[in-house]
Amino acid sequence: VQVQDRIDPEQVPELVALLAATWWSPGRSEDVIRRMLSGSDVVLAALDEAGRLVGFARVLTDRVCIALVLDVVVAEDRRGTGVGAALMDAVVAHPDIAAVESLELVCQPELRDFYRRWGFTDEVGRSGLMRRTAVPGLLGR
Ligand SMILES: CC(C)(COP(=O)(O)OP(=O)(O)OC[C@H]1O[C@@H](n2cnc3c(N)ncnc32)[C@H](O)[C@@H]1OP(=O)(O)O)[C@@H](O)C(=O)NCCC(=O)NCCS
Repeated sequence: VQVQDRIDPEQVPELVALLAATWWSPGRSEDVIRRMLSGSDVVLAALDEAGRLVGFARVLTDRVCIALVLDVVVAEDRRGTGVGAALMDAVVAHPDIAAVESLELVCQPELRDFYRRWGFTDEVGRSGLMRRTAVPGLLGR
């Protein structure tokens, strides 16, 4: 795969489908996703040999102190083939992110070992996640 640091307008419908298959972001419209992309600081797209969008990740960052990695997703039929690793390599090497003091992400326990490969740890002291959301599915009730 090849990782590029943008989503072209004609790739947005593919991204809508990729995110629709996730548990945390189903049902986002094309309009919402276009606005989400324009408000993101770093956007990474993994394309296969035929140019199909097979993976995505994005980052919000002040480029100095903190960066938040979001929406890391690989097409189901391409999981386990190195696409996620290529995306995360591109995240940590990106010029706007490589020198940022702290990178953060939220993930489910079974993905901790995946992210540990890039130096993420679940040793966060007494810190814990708090959330204010309009999305009931994110409350796990
Ligand atoms: C998590 C996800 C992005 C990983 O992408 P992927 O393309 O399947 O991962 P890769 O093939 O690049 O795997 C890279 C390495 O990490 C390992 N790995 C993959 N998933 C793992 C997991 N859940 N736990 C531990 N290791 C994992 C692979 O075995 C591989 O190891 P290797 O290099 O020794 O062969 C992908 O499975 C996915 O999209 N899952 C659903 C969406 C999701 O939950 N995203 C995370 C949101 S926080």
